[in-house]
Amino acid sequence: MRRDASSPSVREREDLQTTAIDAARLAGEVLLEYARTGFHVEYKNAVNLVTDADRRAEQVIVDTIHRAYPDHSVLAEERGMEPGRDSPYRWIIDPLDGTTNFAHGFPLYCVSIGVEYRDRMILGVVLDPTRQELFVAADGQGATLNRQPIRVSKSATLETALLVTGFAYDIRDTPNNNFDHFARFALKAQGVRRTGSAALDLCYVAAGRFDGFWEVKLSPWDMAAGAVIVREAGGRITDLRGNAHSIYQPELVASNGQIHHEMLEVIGENLRS
Ligand code: IPD
Ligand code: CA
Ligand code: CA
Repeated sequence: MRRDASSPSVREREDLQTTAIDAARLAGEVLLEYARTGFHVEYKNAVNLVTDADRRAEQVIVDTIHRAYPDHSVLAEERGMEPGRDSPYRWIIDPLDGTTNFAHGFPLYCVSIGVEYRDRMILGVVLDPTRQELFVAADGQGATLNRQPIRVSKSATLETALLVTGFAYDIRDTPNNNFDHFARFALKAQGVRRTGSAALDLCYVAAGRFDGFWEVKLSPWDMAAGAVIVREAGGRITDLRGNAHSIYQPELVASNGQIHHEMLEVIGENLRS
């Protein structure tokens, strides 16, 4: 039987996953080593940091991918887009999601690696090296945490929901800073958290630790892996208006599905006012 050329074979998917996990583990070791021995901080703006740990972790990931797949495209936070040689695959990488946490010694950050194939996200791997928590999801295969299947929560109402959000680095320069949504949700949900790592926020929605997550200015590398993990754990992801989500658009609402409509209503009240 001939395989549909528009989708990778089981073997190809397994190999991609092995490479992604290897790359994430190597990068996680790099981050832990820098956290232990010290790192150098540079400022992209007054509140946006980057460290040599971000750059080194990214290099290790890209080297690992290129050794296995020299033709694949790479989109990584610190280097931008590196087109491949006529390949349908694109690896989307945040080598350190939660840089501000990392720089302060607050142990909540991760490595995030997603694989896109012909415009569809087919694989997500997120590693929290501090807790040694590895989240993995492949298209149609479900989502796992340390190899155990995970599912989104069953919370049915916003009133009983624990939400999470984040704020972009231009927070001081623009009125589109998410404060309006935050204020409304703070009054309607059971609680709202801000962890500082969007990729882990998505994984925690997938694992049922949070019931919903929204943010208004994310980048593809913040969402790529986590979006597959939420989807495969039974969650729902849209833009702020309930339309199909794309990692190339900055807005996102991710939830257990059950509270999604209520979340969109709260956001809609702000968008209309
Ligand atoms: C940031 C984190 C944060 C989110 C920001 C992101 P970085 O990524 O994901 O939670 O609120 O919008 O830029 O800079 O730590 O990789
Ligand atoms: Ca990030
Ligand atoms: Ca980052």
